[in-house]
Amino acid sequence: MPHIVTIDGPSGSGKGTIASLVAEKLGWRTLDSGALYRLVGLAAERAGIAPDDVPALQKLAKNMDAVFRDGHVFLDNIDVTDAIRTEQAGNAASKIATIPEVREALLSWQQGYVREPGLVAEGRDMGTVIFPEARAKIFLTASAGKRAERRYKQLKEKGLDVNMESLVEEISMRDERDARRAVSPLKAAPDALLLDSSNMAVDEVVEKVLGYVKERIPGL
Ligand code: DC
Repeated sequence: MPHIVTIDGPSGSGKGTIASLVAEKLGWRTLDSGALYRLVGLAAERAGIAPDDVPALQKLAKNMDAVFRDGHVFLDNIDVTDAIRTEQAGNAASKIATIPEVREALLSWQQGYVREPGLVAEGRDMGTVIFPEARAKIFLTASAGKRAERRYKQLKEKGLDVNMESLVEEISMRDERDARRAVSPLKAAPDALLLDSSNMAVDEVVEKVLGYVKERIPGL
């Protein structure tokens, strides 16, 4: 059976960066589940599907032509790696993520990522709903200020135009929506390791997570 490690947490907590680095060290695959929700949001916008047209969104989520290759994401053979990373795409993703039928449609996408020797899956409900059987679960947090700061840097590096004040507001609205929704809300699994990365360097977090994973999966 492939090993599974889950990393959940709010936006800007560093999940993506940490998941990639931990997976690289272990020689495992990663699942960026947020990218799937972002893709549905973008595909819906491009197809002109209304945000409340649940049957159409469900069909789209099931059948979308999405490919992850060499760090790039393609939708209908078009490179959308940058297009799905904007705050607008994040907000659209957070909204469609409240629809149970969309979450259900993305279940098989997510479970299809499991491969030998292992998978590091990151998102909001990886340890609670998608992979409750995971051997090691991490819930990564950071203060709201730090998360906004990190997000700001990330978006600036991508050459996107961002305003710190509106970013703080958008992040807190998105977290609120993700944590309060009825289905699969953002929350720590009861058996997750809680890690606050506010005052930790990336390397430190990676070391801590790897140490925990090795403790939970002896013989790695
Ligand atoms: O991790 P991210 O910022 O790329 O995720 C974008 C949105 O997708 C997030 O605000 C909520 C939704 N999401 C979700 O509901 N469940 C997941 N496992 C991952 C993301």
